Amino acid sequence: MLRLGIVGTNWITKRFVDAAHESGLFELRAVYSRKLEKAQAFAKDYPSVQDFKTDLEQFMASPSFEVVYIASPNSLHFSQAKAAIKAGKHVIVEKPICLNPGQMQELRELLAEHQGQFLFEAARHTHEPNYLAVKEAVAKLPVVQGATLTYMKYSSRYDAYLAGENPNIFSPKFAGGALQDLGVYMVHCAVGWFGKPLNAQYFPTKLANGIDAKGIAILTYQDFTVTLNVGKTANSYLPGEIYGLKETIWMDNAADLKQVELRTPTTTRTLSQTPAENELLAEAVAFGKVLTNPDLPENKAQAQAWLEQTVTVNEVMYQLRQSSNLYFEDEN
Ligand SMILES: NC(=O)c1ccc[n+]([C@@H]2O[C@H](COP(=O)([O-])OP(=O)(O)OC[C@H]3O[C@@H](n4cnc5c(N)ncnc54)[C@H](OP(=O)(O)O)[C@@H]3O)[C@@H](O)[C@H]2O)c1
Repeated sequence: MLRLGIVGTNWITKRFVDAAHESGLFELRAVYSRKLEKAQAFAKDYPSVQDFKTDLEQFMASPSFEVVYIASPNSLHFSQAKAAIKAGKHVIVEKPICLNPGQMQELRELLAEHQGQFLFEAARHTHEPNYLAVKEAVAKLPVVQGATLTYMKYSSRYDAYLAGENPNIFSPKFAGGALQDLGVYMVHCAVGWFGKPLNAQYFPTKLANGIDAKGIAILTYQDFTVTLNVGKTANSYLPGEIYGLKETIWMDNAADLKQVELRTPTTTRTLSQTPAENELLAEAVAFGKVLTNPDLPENKAQAQAWLEQTVTVNEVMYQLRQSSNLYFEDEN
């Protein structure tokens, strides 16, 4: 059983811990929170937790766990992942793994100095069967002529922003915004399904504090373009589509894939299956399998392939931000 520690005590962490337990491969042992009461409150459903820390360095140094799941505000991922790798832990970091290629390079160099440790970005949807079904279907298309993918969901925290508060997800200090929060799912889809684009441009609608509320990204490939529609201040009900010749891959939502179809003018074939109730189960199983048998060559290759996709996504995300002068606080 893999002993798990967590950073961040919001709902997504509970979702991940439940998925990790459901996988049968992990057991939660340690909780870090800035407040002891919060750590204890989080752990009330998990009697396996005996270790509570409010000091991050002491937490990472604790021998009570070997894998840490980090679900803190985006701008903290880099320093916390670094601290975890240095302390000898395997690391699962929520998306986006870090903010720019410089940080990504530092993480990779550190990882290279810590042979045998793994670093995973929790891009949950890329482990789900329906994402993989699309990937397989794309590979079989006679030609790809482009795609349009949409993920736009009104955030309840936008109400807080409008009320004059400064929620992390709309804050330049914590690297918030539509692209970082929801766009990263779409960029993972594009990179995973079509490879690295030749060019990437972002056209954001910005808030007064400079953060992108919504936007359109255009990824240019050799023979086609992919359009990404992302937003946190409006809802979209548009499906996603990938254009072959007579075939179109149709999906209800590229990040929350429940329905995928291969359509022609005369036929419709369902490619999707009913997703797991917990949308983080697939990634928990995937990471757990690798960590349980870390020396198997196929597991090492799988982890390397995930990391390569993460590195490419990180580059594309940064290019998108550069194209629209979207920078965060404390970013050199
Ligand atoms: N995969 C998915 O489906 C999914 C869904 C939602 C979010 N996420 C990702 O999960 C991460 C967390 O998102 P979230 O919305 O939960 O973020 P959040 O509410 O802003 O913060 C998450 C946790 O970080 C800690 N924290 C909050 N503010 C902090 C601060 N100023 N300084 C230090 N720590 C702070 C808090 O834990 P303590 O108070 O206990 O210290 C909090 O529970 C993000 O990277 C997001 O992209 C992923």
